[in-house]
Amino acid sequence: MHKSSAFPIVVNAVTCFLLLSLADVQGNERPIVGILSQPCTGFRGCNESGSYIASSYVKFVEMAGARVIPIIFNAPHDEIMFRMRYVHMLLFPGGAVPLQPGTLFFETSKSLFEHVIDLNKRGFWFPLHGTCLGFELLHILVARSGGVLQTFNSTNCRSKLNFTESARHSRLFQNFSNDLFEAARKKKIAVEHHMYGVSPEAYKNFPSLQSFFRILSTSADLQGKIYVSSMEAIDFPISGTQFHPEKPVFEWKTGQEISHDPQAILMAQMLSNALITEAKKNSRPPLSKGPQLNSLLIYNYSPIYISDDSIPFEQVYVFHTSSTPHPRSLERIN
Ligand SMILES: *[C@@H]1O[C@H](CO)[C@@H](O)[C@H](O)[C@H]1NC(C)=O
Ligand SMILES: *[C@@H]1O[C@H](CO)[C@@H](O)[C@H](O)[C@H]1NC(C)=O
Ligand SMILES: *[C@@H]1O[C@H](CO)[C@@H](O)[C@H](O)[C@H]1NC(C)=O
Ligand SMILES: *[C@@H]1O[C@H](CO)[C@@H](O)[C@H](O)[C@H]1NC(C)=O
Repeated sequence: MHKSSAFPIVVNAVTCFLLLSLADVQGNERPIVGILSQPCTGFRGCNESGSYIASSYVKFVEMAGARVIPIIFNAPHDEIMFRMRYVHMLLFPGGAVPLQPGTLFFETSKSLFEHVIDLNKRGFWFPLHGTCLGFELLHILVARSGGVLQTFNSTNCRSKLNFTESARHSRLFQNFSNDLFEAARKKKIAVEHHMYGVSPEAYKNFPSLQSFFRILSTSADLQGKIYVSSMEAIDFPISGTQFHPEKPVFEWKTGQEISHDPQAILMAQMLSNALITEAKKNSRPPLSKGPQLNSLLIYNYSPIYISDDSIPFEQVYVFHTSSTPHPRSLERIN
């Protein structure tokens, strides 16, 4: 007994060593997600010089084991690119911003999108996900036209997800159980807050959409008009949902059609896990660890709680460009 037990220990040690070195090369246990802030919409503490991120997006990625660095859309370009060097994935959240070429928000989003494409082409696995407005933005950027959007009557409702054949093997939904697929198909657990959307026909009218994305689900608005409710890119780790997976877990404003059904919450958790699984495949090391990285994390900011119905969020992080830049980070980039 004693003699033979030495062998498995040696084998285990070798296996451990192999696994550790594989982990070093192929993965990243400490993923960081960049979340793009948006122009303030005029609520308390957030004037025209500021920008914000709803806390629900931060918690959404944190719940799968990731940390967040805010990417402040109106910070100097060098500062934005510096922060991008620390993150393994980018999230374009939902919100209410006109997506007009020439506006700072649109142009910043466009250059971030192009940067993500470039990183992936250079061999770094760099995921990008868009929710609601972020989903619409990805379509405009790929089609290079605002004409991909149409109006829909879905500003405050729940919907079913009509999954396509591709969903079962997609990065986003591959780990859904049959029960969860069934629930999402039949129970209206997807939370919809959009007045624009992308119809499946737009994929025919704009061939670049068809060759870039795979439709994973469609849904119907209150008039029964069909729109694409989730998609992912064929050749890049880029995905989007028109619905809001994060709201069932973190948003509670009354007057909002938000499902808090256990399966809506499970869907949020599964999608968060799926996204962070992709972020962990990005093993690009940060520029530096320790204090430099720590100074960029969202933990340096405190969210504010807005209890009235002036915004559809419980808590938001507000950023003022004058208070955000880290002067030393600007020196370091050169
Ligand atoms: C916006 O708010 C910030 C922080 O409260 C303040 O420092 C700044 O002066 C305000 N700017 C304007 C244009 O009101
Ligand atoms: C569901 O998908 C089928 C097949 O693609 C399509 O014909 C139908 O219109 C869709 N319905 C909704 C509500 O998305
Ligand atoms: C949206 O749908 C609701 C419910 O069917 C209806 O009452 C409302 O008038 C519609 N709004 C528009 C702008 O069509
Ligand atoms: C799906 O589940 C498998 C087995 O538990 C796991 O290895 C994989 O990382 C999961 N994938 C996603 C995208 O969550």
